[in-house]
Amino acid sequence: MGAWSGAPPRRRGASLNYSHTYHAGNIADVFKHYVLTLVLEALHRKDAPFCVVDSHAGAGIYELGRGGEHEQGIGQLWPERGAWPALARYLEIVARVNPSGRLRYYPGSPMVIREFLRAGDRAVLLELHPQEYATLRETMRDASGIGVHHINAWNGIKAFVPPKENRGLVLIDPPYEKAGESTAVVAALRHGMRHWRNGVYLAWYPIKARRPVESFYRAVATMKAPAHAVEFITLPLDMERRLNGSGLLVINPPWRLLDTLRASLPPLAARLAGASGSPQVRIVDLAAN
Ligand SMILES: C[S@@+](CC[C@H](N)C(=O)[O-])C[C@H]1O[C@@H](n2cnc3c(N)ncnc32)[C@H](O)[C@@H]1O
Repeated sequence: MGAWSGAPPRRRGASLNYSHTYHAGNIADVFKHYVLTLVLEALHRKDAPFCVVDSHAGAGIYELGRGGEHEQGIGQLWPERGAWPALARYLEIVARVNPSGRLRYYPGSPMVIREFLRAGDRAVLLELHPQEYATLRETMRDASGIGVHHINAWNGIKAFVPPKENRGLVLIDPPYEKAGESTAVVAALRHGMRHWRNGVYLAWYPIKARRPVESFYRAVATMKAPAHAVEFITLPLDMERRLNGSGLLVINPPWRLLDTLRASLPPLAARLAGASGSPQVRIVDLAAN
């Protein structure tokens, strides 16, 4: 499995629209990367090689600044990390990039994936933003089995799915800054179901209000795929402009994943929501809708 040591490379050039830096390690990242860790652990149950396609990979690692969103996310768990055995593997990966014990860096999805690659396993990382791509390339320069591509995710998914291993995961994690990104997610999943029906798919989405989420679910349900929506909400859904929670669409969940999430997510949501929050975890079978 690939190890990492050192600091993230310096960012170069002028910034474009979206950078995950400010959001890195927030509540949504903790939820997403914890679930990602569980899916990767499940892929280790068999020796046959697997491939992970990370369609919106980001920079790979982020330096956490004062006042960033991580303060409500990983920043809350970090001081009490010994008290979260269910999250041990995820927290171990965060610890790996913070060897001094001070929480300074946050590992993005590529770093999480890298931790799980065995000899013969592969990851395909796609990133469109020139700066994020340059940082990601640099971060992954010594990693084996990892390809980094400067490409639009929606074209990249068509190019790289299905992978030759016929085992593995597609992680779809767009920023949802542009109109039509949830439609693009559904189209990408539809491509996946047509060309690689037995792959595991994880697609992240924001939850601000109930109505857009329900219409997203209806679109997924028309695909007749074995899909579940896992919702992780920490704030009341009465302010549509805020990220009140987030969800992960899981297609072909590995054995026992949903049971593990049913047990482990409610206490995590309650902890991260804090006294003034509104924790809610829902797991919805979209195929049954
Ligand atoms: C939410 S961040 C990804 C975070 C990363 N998956 C993680 O968990 O650490 C979304 C990323 O997608 C990139 N992006 C936005 N639109 C894209 C597109 N059409 N194709 C590929 N990457 C894109 C952004 O530059 C950003 O780095």
